[in-house]
This record gives sequence, C-alpha cells and structure tokens, in this order.
Amino acid sequence: MNPLKDKKILLGITGSIAAYKAAEIASSLTKSGAIVNAVLTPGGEKFITPLTLHSVTGRHASVDKDLWEGEQHVTHIELGHNSDLIVIAPASADFIAKIAHGLGDSLLALAVLAGHCPVLVAPAMDGNMYLNQATQENIAQLMKRNFQIIGPASGHLASGLVGVGRMSDPQEILGAIRYTLSRGGILENKKILVTAGGTQEAIDPVRIITNRSSGKQGYAIAQAALDLGADVTLITTATTLAVPYGSKVIYVKSAKEMQNAIFENLMDMNALIMCAAVADFRPEVSEKEKIKKDGSELLLRLEPTEDILLEVAKKRNEYTKLNAVIGFAAESENLIKNAESKLKKKKLDMIVANDISGKESGFESDKNQASFLFPDGSKRDLPLMGKDQLAELIMEEINKIIIKQ
Ligand code: CTP
Repeated sequence: MNPLKDKKILLGITGSIAAYKAAEIASSLTKSGAIVNAVLTPGGEKFITPLTLHSVTGRHASVDKDLWEGEQHVTHIELGHNSDLIVIAPASADFIAKIAHGLGDSLLALAVLAGHCPVLVAPAMDGNMYLNQATQENIAQLMKRNFQIIGPASGHLASGLVGVGRMSDPQEILGAIRYTLSRGGILENKKILVTAGGTQEAIDPVRIITNRSSGKQGYAIAQAALDLGADVTLITTATTLAVPYGSKVIYVKSAKEMQNAIFENLMDMNALIMCAAVADFRPEVSEKEKIKKDGSELLLRLEPTEDILLEVAKKRNEYTKLNAVIGFAAESENLIKNAESKLKKKKLDMIVANDISGKESGFESDKNQASFLFPDGSKRDLPLMGKDQLAELIMEEINKIIIKQ
C-alpha cells in the first residue's frame, strides 16, 4: 500500500542554496522504500557533494562527468526512461529556463528530456528572479506541459531579504511525491470523506467543552485513502497535525459545524469514515461575553448534540453514491457489546471498536488496538499496532465494501 515502495525516483539537484535540503528528501524517500537516483548539475555540485547523496541513498549519485566518462554512454536515456517520477528539488531559475526550452546541456536536463514519467519541480531562487517575467513565462510553459510545480514558499531568502522564492518545505515536497505516485491506485476516482478530532462546544468566548481525541487516527486514515488513489476530503477539528498532501481540508469546531460540513459534501461521496469524537452534549447557552467568577458556584446546563451518524442513516437512500459508512466506538467497558449496538443503531457497514482504557492505545497515543465488526455478525480482532498500520487495514476493508456494492 506504500506508494513509494520500490518506485524509481530521479532526484535532480540544481544550483541553489536549498540543495542541502535535497539530502533530507533523498534520505526520507530511501527510508520509505523508494530507489533514489540522485543527479546533480554542475551548479548543484557546488552546494552539495555526490558523496552526501550517495551516503543517504546507498546508490551512485550521478554528475555531468558520468555523461561523458560513464561506463554506459546512454546514462541520461537510462535515467530518464527507467524513472517512475522525476523530482527537481531545488530547481534554479536557470534550470527551469533550460527545461522550458528543451535544452540538454547537462546530464539532468537530458534525463528530463528523455523521461516519460511525471515531473515535479520545486523552484528555489531569489524573489526578484522568481517574479521576473522570463521565469514566470518559463514556469507557465512547464505547467502547460503538465509539469507539476510545488511552491516556492515565502520566507527568508539567501539574499537576506524576505519574500517569495524559498524552496517548499521538504515535508511538503515528500507529500507531493507520495500523492503523485499514488494516483491511479485501486480507489481512483472514489471520493472518501474522513472526519477527525474532538469537537469543541463553546461555553463562552474563552472556554470550551472538548475531549481527548487528537485526530491522529483520522489523519492516518486520510493518508491511507490517498495512498490507494482516492480523492479525500478531511473534516477536522485538529489544527496542529500535518495535513496529508492532496486532501481537501475543512476545519470545523463544534458538532453542529461538523454536521453541516458533512452534509454539504456527502452527495458526491462513496464512503464516510466517521473517526471524529463528536461531543454528545453542548452548553444550552454559549455566552457572548466571558463568564466572570463571583465566588459562587456555576451550573452549566447541557443539551444533546445531533447524532451525525444517526442523521446520515435516516437519509442514507438520498445519497446514492454512498456505499460505505464506517463508525468508531471508543469504549472504556463492554467494548464489543456497545460497538455491536452502535453498528446496528447507526446502520453502519463496519464499526471500528477500540478499548480506550488500555495504557498504550487510543486517544493521544500513536498506537491503537481495535476490532472490526460487520453487520453479518463477523468480527476481526487485531493486535496493538501503529495508527498508520490500522488505517491501512481499515482502508483495506472499506475497499472490499466499496467493490462489493
Ligand atoms: N457520532 C456521531 N455523532 C455524535 C456522536 C457520535 O456521529 N453526536 C459518531 C462517532 O463519530 C462515532 C460513532 O458515532 O463514529 C460512535 O461514537 P461514540 O461516541 O462511541 O458513541 P455515541 O453514539 O456517542 O454513544 P456513547 O457516547 O453513549 O457511547
């Protein structure tokens, strides 16, 4: 399911100070199972050595010398032809100009010309160079040819100025690589809606009622769905987690806002994965101004929130594309019995039951221990595992449900 596994990625490094960040990209890709062939232009070599790239990829890092003196005189053709993806990070203004015009004056430029795979370009340069009309026209030219441009970001530049031109963060580039390689997967053209995090119900402008849900499991599910090629919409209350690249994110706070966002998006969806910990109660009155203490006790009157999954169940026949609705049951006692009753009551296609009383699993942890329960009475018990791994297993089941329909 890992879209990077055994993929051949040509990582092109050109003359920019951001070249040092290419080592992080190469290292992360290699750790994720990709086969990384680094290629440095003469400018790139001035900022980072082939030895560095060789060390983190475990593979020969090519330079222009290999073009003329290599054992194989067709190195550039091989590199271009055999790649699943070409990533130019950093891409200097000069190199962008070259590939926009089809020049082949370096091993890397030749490999781009010879390649027939997707190309990601992460520009990195001085702000004025980036904004220069020539560079803008060159980038527009590349976009017309379906090259994917990532960034650049704004921030501190090597010139000491602050502006646009910084290479995008390596994590974002890695996300874009993963996303690009996952397209065409088994869930291609399927639309998946994932909710994550604990809702927040306002007492006043300062105080809220919320719960311990971190959102990590929902984000891991969104990533696993993307990895299978799905189009993912993530409705979330969590604001500090890194958003899985390629997902459409909608931030909400309360149960009511989450419900509205779900129904606004549900018509197109093939699956709803309701991982969010939705508050069951909210203050009957949310005060406009901060409540002041005056020494006396404060009584809060709570009213029930809407049960979103119950509402979905009631209207399910209106949503003709919706083939799979998955719920979660986080329980501290009678796990299976409670989960079974929620599965029936909310008319779910599967429920993920997890015991939150365990020390290592559940809220805030990176691990989870769960059982999957199905309407036909079958059950799959799983051992304690990472939330990423559990997300993959959840998506495996959802894929089966979607295919069956
Ligand atoms: N859920 C929902 N709307 C709510 C509460 C929960 O859609 N107002 C969803 C959750 O996202 C989860 C499932 O219903 O997928 C079960 O949530 P859980 O909190 O375990 O159960 P509840 O139905 O709220 O029942 P209880 O809190 O009494 O256990």
